[in-house]
Amino acid sequence: MSHEDIPGYTYGEESVPDSPIDREDFDLLKETVMFTEEDEEHLRLAGEVLDGQIDDVLDTWYGFVADHPHLMQYFSTPGGEPIEEYLERVRARFGQWIRDTCNPPYDDDWLRYQQEIGLRHTRRKKNQTDDVNSVNHIPFRYMSAFIYPITATMRPFLENGDHDEETVEKMHDAWFKAVVLQVTLWSNPYVIAGDY
Ligand code: HEM
Repeated sequence: MSHEDIPGYTYGEESVPDSPIDREDFDLLKETVMFTEEDEEHLRLAGEVLDGQIDDVLDTWYGFVADHPHLMQYFSTPGGEPIEEYLERVRARFGQWIRDTCNPPYDDDWLRYQQEIGLRHTRRKKNQTDDVNSVNHIPFRYMSAFIYPITATMRPFLENGDHDEETVEKMHDAWFKAVVLQVTLWSNPYVIAGDY
């Protein structure tokens, strides 16, 4: 699936808001999470290993959400009925997100799209992209808590390449840092103005 075919994926488009931070602050954030060029290299390597496994990764994550009604509610109507079309459309963007995460260096368009993704988890933009009637806000506590499953479940997929243990570890570490970095960027709409 090419970018243009993914419903609601607006990376690089003018409609995407500005990032609340500039390049300098972004560099400091990367430093804070110990994200280096070596991590960028290992993410690109991870992208090669994951190519062909994206659907399996998504099955794992969707299975995890489906097993937890307190998470599944955010893909459901306020009455608790899962919205299949919503799940499917978001799944395609989720797959692209894996590819984007594994395709550093992260440029200005990437940084701006992080603000968009953050907003899409909050009442400011959730449900709008797919025009659905679902619960309209994901509490912040689940955003940061989700970093663990999104990271831990990735390891077996990274092991499926032909790389030695040390390289797998480095790819996994780089993935972990990239997810922390992004969830930190996505937290902006949740933080009281001026406190971010
Ligand atoms: C959307 C990743 C936390 C539910 C998305 C998208 C990505 C993503 C990549 C699609 C972005 C786009 O539109 O291009 C993540 C990651 C998380 C996280 C990495 C934390 C580490 C959560 C949690 C929930 C959740 C805890 C609760 C079940 C959703 C929903 C959407 C979405 C419902 C669609 C939002 C909309 O209406 O546009 N997420 N997510 N996410 N995510 Fe998350």
